[in-house]
Parts: sequence; structure tokens; C-alpha cells
Amino acid sequence: MFKKKAKLDNESLKNGVSLITYNDPTSSIAEQFRTVRTNIQFSSVDKTLKSIVFTSSAPSEGKSTVSNNVAVTWADQGKRVLIVDADMRRPTVHRTFRVSNAVGLSNLLADTGNIDDAIYETVIDNLSVMPSGPIPPNPSELLGSPKMIQLLNTLTDAYDLVIIDAPPVNTVTDAQVLAARADGTVLVVPQGIADKAGVRHAKQLLETVQANILGAILNRASVEKSTGYYGGYYGGYYGTDDK
Ligand SMILES: Nc1ncnc2c1ncn2[C@@H]1O[C@H](COP(=O)(O)OP(=O)(O)OP(=O)(O)O)[C@@H](O)[C@H]1O
Ligand SMILES: [Mg+2]
Repeated sequence: MFKKKAKLDNESLKNGVSLITYNDPTSSIAEQFRTVRTNIQFSSVDKTLKSIVFTSSAPSEGKSTVSNNVAVTWADQGKRVLIVDADMRRPTVHRTFRVSNAVGLSNLLADTGNIDDAIYETVIDNLSVMPSGPIPPNPSELLGSPKMIQLLNTLTDAYDLVIIDAPPVNTVTDAQVLAARADGTVLVVPQGIADKAGVRHAKQLLETVQANILGAILNRASVEKSTGYYGGYYGGYYGTDDK
């Protein structure tokens, strides 16, 4: 029924992801992203989330699509939102929002740029982005440095919400490092594409670093249905249930 992807989908690397929440905000898909937003808010009632990592078990599973669209729905609510492209291996945020990638996160972590040059306003009210910056030789080291903690503190002071578009969990340690430092982590799971053992492993890796796993988003949940292509279902992912 579902075919495993033979190779990575590089479309978003070239052109960015599709911002349906901006381009077609009244669509049912945009509505699903708003539902995802609400569910994330409700997943943490006792603590206000200021920084949220979006990751997945493997590459090209929809992290950027889901995180960027959910960020737009938050900005629409009037929250001041910053998307940080922490995927220094396959960055797409600068493409999606059509901003320069000359200065970004990698520069700030390597001390080769200043913060004002690394943040861009977008066409969307309340939404700013920090692109990855030039791809460094040592992303894990940079993301794991004390500088990253300082930067995250600065950013969460300056914005209502910092959305971190992270690399996949199972390939490199970057996402684990980020998840350990953010208030919450959301796992994007593409139905029919992600392999079960891989998702379980990703969850375990996140638990190892005591990430606050808020839940999982089932992406492409309705591929077969006539209503559309995107699926935004936010499912619980709690306790020891490792289905
Ligand atoms: N629900 C969906 N329906 C259809 N296409 C989708 C959906 N989610 C993502 N895609 C497409 O799949 C590709 C990968 O998505 P995306 O770039 O968001 O994934 P990613 O996990 O951020 O990938 P990477 O590991 O490269 O950062 C893109 O071409 C995107 O348009
Ligand atoms: Mg991505």
C-alpha cells in the first residue's frame, strides 16, 4: 500500500517547504495545523512552553513542513514567534521564507556573526526566522556547546515562542542535544513511511537525554483520502506505550 521511499526527497532543500497555513489559511489542511498547535498547547498545561524542538526518526519525514506551518499558526494568534533552523545538514528555512543564509545560527555559535544579522523578519506578522547559516564542518559540536544554551535563553527572552527545526534523531546526535535543552519536543511520524523500529528507537534516544516529549504528529495521515494530501494528526505518545 505504501512504498518506502527509495531516496530522500530533496525538493524542500531547493525550494523550501509549502506554507499552506499562509497561502491557504482557510483550507482544511491549515485547520489541521491549528489543531496541532492547540494540542501542543494542551500537552503542557502546568508549564508555558517557550522552546519546542520538532524532530523525526529519519530524514525527509516532514519536520520542516510541520514545524514551519505550526509556527505560522502561532504567529497568527499574535504570539511573537522565531523559527530557528537547527538542521545544519539539510537546512530549508531560508528557502521557505526567501531570506539570505549568509549569516545564521552557525555564525552565532562559531562567533562569526551577530544576532541582529542572523534574524530576519518574514512577510508573516509576528514571525521571524533564523536561518542555519553556512553549513559548518562540526554541527553537533556547535549545537552542543554552552553558547547554544546562552543563545536559547536570549531567544526565549526575546520571543514568546522559539520553534526549532531540528535534524532527525536517528542519524546524528544534534536533535538529542537540542531536545535536552528545549522545553518540549515533538516527534513527526509520517504514516506508512516511518519504520516502527526507527520511531521506537528515536523515542528511546530522546528519553535517554530526558527530553520532554510532548507527543507525536502523524504526518501524511490521509494520503489515500480524497480530502487531501497532508495529514496533521496529533496523537498521544505518553508513558511506556511504545507502539
Ligand atoms: N503531509 C505531507 N504531504 C505531502 N508532502 C509532504 C508532507 N509533509 C512533507 N511533505 C513533503 O516531503 C518532503 C520532505 O518534507 P520536509 O522538508 O518538511 O521534511 P524534513 O523532515 O524537514 O526533511 P529534512 O530531513 O530534509 O530536513 C518535502 O518535499 C515536503 O513538501
Ligand atoms: Mg527539514
